[in-house]
Amino acid sequence: MKALVYHGPGKRSWEEKPKPAIKDSKDVIIRITKTTICGTDLHIMKGDVPEVVEGLTLGHEGIGFIEEVGASVFNFKVGDNVLISCITSCGICDACKKGMYSHCETGGWILGHLIDGTQAEYVRIPHADTSLYHIPKGVDEEAVVMLSDILPTGFECGVLNGQIKPGDTVAIVGAGPIGLATLLTAQFYSPAEIIMVDLDENRLKVAKTFGATKLVSKNAVEEIMKLTDGKGVDVAIEAVGIAATFDICQSIIAAGGHIANVGVHGKSVELHLEKLWSRNITITTRLVDTVTTPMLLKTVLSGKLQPKNLITHRFALNDIMKAYDTFGNAAKENAIKIILSN
Ligand SMILES: NC(=O)c1ccc[n+]([C@@H]2O[C@H](COP(=O)([O-])OP(=O)(O)OC[C@H]3O[C@@H](n4cnc5c(N)ncnc54)[C@H](O)[C@@H]3O)[C@@H](O)[C@H]2O)c1
Ligand SMILES: [Zn+2]
Ligand SMILES: [Zn+2]
Repeated sequence: MKALVYHGPGKRSWEEKPKPAIKDSKDVIIRITKTTICGTDLHIMKGDVPEVVEGLTLGHEGIGFIEEVGASVFNFKVGDNVLISCITSCGICDACKKGMYSHCETGGWILGHLIDGTQAEYVRIPHADTSLYHIPKGVDEEAVVMLSDILPTGFECGVLNGQIKPGDTVAIVGAGPIGLATLLTAQFYSPAEIIMVDLDENRLKVAKTFGATKLVSKNAVEEIMKLTDGKGVDVAIEAVGIAATFDICQSIIAAGGHIANVGVHGKSVELHLEKLWSRNITITTRLVDTVTTPMLLKTVLSGKLQPKNLITHRFALNDIMKAYDTFGNAAKENAIKIILSN
């Protein structure tokens, strides 16, 4: 079969690899029909995720049809159309029993990270019963792909951890796929204002069509303090992963507010406790657990949530090398999410 293989920083190829086989009785083998590229894959390509070994197939998002099932898989059978979660969970370890699938003792984020991922014609999924979801007939499959990672990430790490309430003023710093997924799911709770912050005017324009009430591209702290009469925001969500954007969140948070960090940080950030100690604020961090995927799937199926509009580019899976180039130049190409179909 063909797979997108990592060969060290800056090196990848679409090459022939043996088709995966069942290794454990809880595994299934899936024929991928749609997958996508995540910002995290670009981090891996830059060498920011050193535990990824050369020769690994990348990708942690996608859907497909089950081709083979292990002897201990009960909930799925050959021919089922399924959504693959970016987080693999056994369902029975201490972390899974707390709903913290991201820290599953034999799972967590392993796809395209520690084991071969979804950017291939076939993938092996461990703990299949607790890591896959049935896709009902007749649904828009492209929209469903957005449920592998970005929607649960924006919702769990941003919206739920930020405890957005009706009437709140919310700022989302970063209007990439994750920030935009946060923007979409924040609206479940009817905040009064959602201020989107990004340097990229095109992404801000897109954010406006998704329900942002205010857009900020420059002097973020000053602008947001002006927009909130000097009070700051009830919820500040960091969806970039750099010190500068976490600093914005610290500077704009109102008394009693919540700062929810979503971004993956490679460098340390200065925490301004000398200003924040008396402000009754809460700071949260989280690796997505994907515990809300069943709920989010229902909102997509009902049409309440329309994540398909995040898709800007489509390629054949065979053209994934070209798709990586496009996604790697997201600002120039006006790219948000890319769908690869097979
Ligand atoms: N916590 C989790 O479980 C989890 C899961 C998935 C992704 N992530 C992380 O979430 C973050 C966002 O992911 P993404 O795919 O949307 O990334 P992305 O790179 O596509 O988007 C980031 C956005 O931030 C903007 N930006 C950069 N510098 C800025 C600045 N100084 N001020 C304002 N905006 C700025 C960029 O223009 C871009 O639009 C990444 O760090 C990613 O690794 C976290
Ligand atoms: Zn991802
Ligand atoms: Zn577990």
